[in-house]
Amino acid sequence: MRNTRIVEMLEVTETAALAAGRWMGKGDKVAADQAAVEAMRSAFDQVEIDGEIVIGEGERDEAPMLFIGEHVGAGGEEIDIAVDPLEGTNLTAYGQSNSLAVLAFGPKGTLLHAPDTYMWKIATGPAAYDAIHIDASPTENVRNVAQALKRPVEDLVVCILDRDRHKDMIAEVRAAGARIRLISDGDVFGAVATSVEGTGIHLYMGAGGAPEGVLAAAAMKCIGGCFMGRFAFRTPEERARAEVMTQCDIDGVLDMECLVNTDEAAFIATGVTDGEMLRGVKYFGQGSRTHSITMENKTGTIRFVETVHQTGAEKFWVRRD
Ligand code: FBP
Repeated sequence: MRNTRIVEMLEVTETAALAAGRWMGKGDKVAADQAAVEAMRSAFDQVEIDGEIVIGEGERDEAPMLFIGEHVGAGGEEIDIAVDPLEGTNLTAYGQSNSLAVLAFGPKGTLLHAPDTYMWKIATGPAAYDAIHIDASPTENVRNVAQALKRPVEDLVVCILDRDRHKDMIAEVRAAGARIRLISDGDVFGAVATSVEGTGIHLYMGAGGAPEGVLAAAAMKCIGGCFMGRFAFRTPEERARAEVMTQCDIDGVLDMECLVNTDEAAFIATGVTDGEMLRGVKYFGQGSRTHSITMENKTGTIRFVETVHQTGAEKFWVRRD
């Protein structure tokens, strides 16, 4: 894939974040999501790709745009795309931290095709790459990651979504001695943060959306971290859809080979609200400012990108923060 593609695709997440950010704190998560979806859809149309959304806003019947199987782009190179135009709709609607506009892409046929279902997930950064397994107990995972990071378990922070289904997991992690960062939403951030120094998160565990799982797996592939999953179907219909769509064993471990089967994956996220990894969108009358992270597996390049979007008639001095 062309290296310059990353800049074109960065504009896609920036455009979605700029649209969603206008809804920060307005209490309307549907409107925030819709703004991000519409903006992302029209931004894709500027890029010379024939992109298939392999995991996205849902199935064709439920999602008016960016649904699984939809083709986007102005035509050109065939690629697989995973999208979450607004990851953390509630976080945006209530002005809370770490909501993102996010996408991942790779050559055609390389990203996991799956219905809009749930997934058990575990992720950690490159330093503890070999220390985790989706089938190991929380106690084993916590101890092994602590050992790999050469620190006592008490110095480890595990990120977990605050959900009833995680009650036992949370109790076990606490009993093992690790500390927990409970998040209300946004587990793409939770998983990717394990590989970004300064976030204070070392391990992510729990069940959440499958699309968010594929997105996080693409980031972990680029950054050299580890991500494993296992489908958690809610209905027989979801299982049946996965049987048709998904290339690998739908009851088995979803490892990197199955989730992101390429060395040419890329991941891009733009902050919508402020967070530990990315700053949120800022608007200032004559323009706006976005903060993003881009990752390319092929080159191993990770960029933090701050963009100033000048929209007013008059140009202005750009302040260096
Ligand atoms: P939305 O952006 O669609 O609101 O999803 C946010 C999220 O918290 C994801 O990060 C996570 O994977 C999923 O929802 C968890 O689902 P649920 O809220 O049903 O437990």
